[in-house]
Amino acid sequence: MAKQRTKTVYFCSECGNESPKWLGKCPACGAWNSYVEEKVSTTNSREAFLPGSMLSSKPVRLGDIEQVAEERIPMPSGELNRVLGGGLVTGSIILIGGEPGIGKSTLVLQNMLRIRSRRVLYVSGEESARQLKMRADRLGADGGELYVLCETSLEKIFTQVEASKPGILVVDSIQTIASEALESSAGSVGQVRECSAQLLKYAKESGVPVILIGHINKEGTLAGPKVLEHIVDAVLQFEGDRHYMYRLLRSIKNRFGSTSELGIYEMTQVGLREVSNPSELLLTDNDEPVSGTAIGVAIDGARPFLIETQALVSTAAYGTAQRSVTGFDAKRMNMLLAVLEKRVGFKIAQKDVFLNIAGGLRVNDPALDLAVITATLSSNVDMAIPHGIALTGEVGLSGEIRPVTRIDQRISEAAKLGFKTIYVPHNNLKGSDFSNRGIRVVEVAKVEEVFRSLFANK
Ligand code: TYD
Ligand code: MG
Repeated sequence: MAKQRTKTVYFCSECGNESPKWLGKCPACGAWNSYVEEKVSTTNSREAFLPGSMLSSKPVRLGDIEQVAEERIPMPSGELNRVLGGGLVTGSIILIGGEPGIGKSTLVLQNMLRIRSRRVLYVSGEESARQLKMRADRLGADGGELYVLCETSLEKIFTQVEASKPGILVVDSIQTIASEALESSAGSVGQVRECSAQLLKYAKESGVPVILIGHINKEGTLAGPKVLEHIVDAVLQFEGDRHYMYRLLRSIKNRFGSTSELGIYEMTQVGLREVSNPSELLLTDNDEPVSGTAIGVAIDGARPFLIETQALVSTAAYGTAQRSVTGFDAKRMNMLLAVLEKRVGFKIAQKDVFLNIAGGLRVNDPALDLAVITATLSSNVDMAIPHGIALTGEVGLSGEIRPVTRIDQRISEAAKLGFKTIYVPHNNLKGSDFSNRGIRVVEVAKVEEVFRSLFANK
């Protein structure tokens, strides 16, 4: 074993990059003035990341490795289960990240309270036992096999873990835990690295799955330690707008499953409710069609859903026109507005444009372009799009409507929700026949065609 040594190193608090000296600008992520000084003990820096058995291992022929299916513990919540890829893998370490107050503790507690097959140790460095009890009561669960420990010292946590031998360990949150081996305070890059490395070692050696909860900062990165993402087996991000009730659980990294899964929840008075049909939630029931709204079909994760995009176009009150977007990429909106100016003669310079994706969601699927463009046009000419029309398609720089992925699923979803017509990119269907789906499929090749079809002849 190497000799115990402490040295001072500098970490970038944005991305976790390590440097022997202080730097003004991080060479890894480009952040300015982000380096913080930390004392680290270097004895077990290598051992800490690798379980003992891995250090002395020899090369093995791949064909000689015994195949064992990883054991999975099913989670009570179907959405969480799916995002994990079918349950929590024994010996794995997963991280659930999200902004403070988004509902991470609620999500984990709600699931852990309903697990009967294993004893769960819930370590909370943030809330008192009584607060946890109050929350559990609110979630309507009796507590089952859940044990709580309010502790922030890593060493004391391990002492209790030794004594109580849990079947699942939860640490809420990793930023509140500190190891006595380091001088820096809880939440610092060094502490987070050290604590998660120790917990990783524990998970791999004992086979007990560990769930870490971590806060992310406003920019959407895990506060400080990007390194955490490399250490853990899976990173799930819990997101949503705090003013809306929907919450999305996304898998950013998953060694045991796909990262394209998305779970949707709604925060209620009695905890998180699973939303199995997201489209119904995202569409508002307007009796009268109103101008400026268009329904797009987006795919996020594995499921398609219909989303309302709302635009408001008005004459600029001041010299420079305003642009404001929520839930959609601002640069992309500017590109789409430029396409509109060039192709449809939309006089962009004198117009304020506000764009909003209903429900507080953030959508990155380019197939939403067509709905965004149509909503903007609809508001501009002040003509509503009739009920029952959905749109899907990516818009290119010359105003062409480009094919999107999984068109079949998108059309089916719109048909299932009772839409009568769907506008799809030309050539996207590749000869498939949709005449028996109960929905009229209109193929469009150019933005101008959509404009003419919806607004020009009225
Ligand atoms: P919490 O799980 O504490 O968030 P995090 O651990 O991510 O910081 O959830 C915080 C919010 O959720 C809080 O503002 C209250 C709300 N909430 C409900 O609306 N209903 C509930 O049943 C619970 C338990 C919390
Ligand atoms: Mg919490």
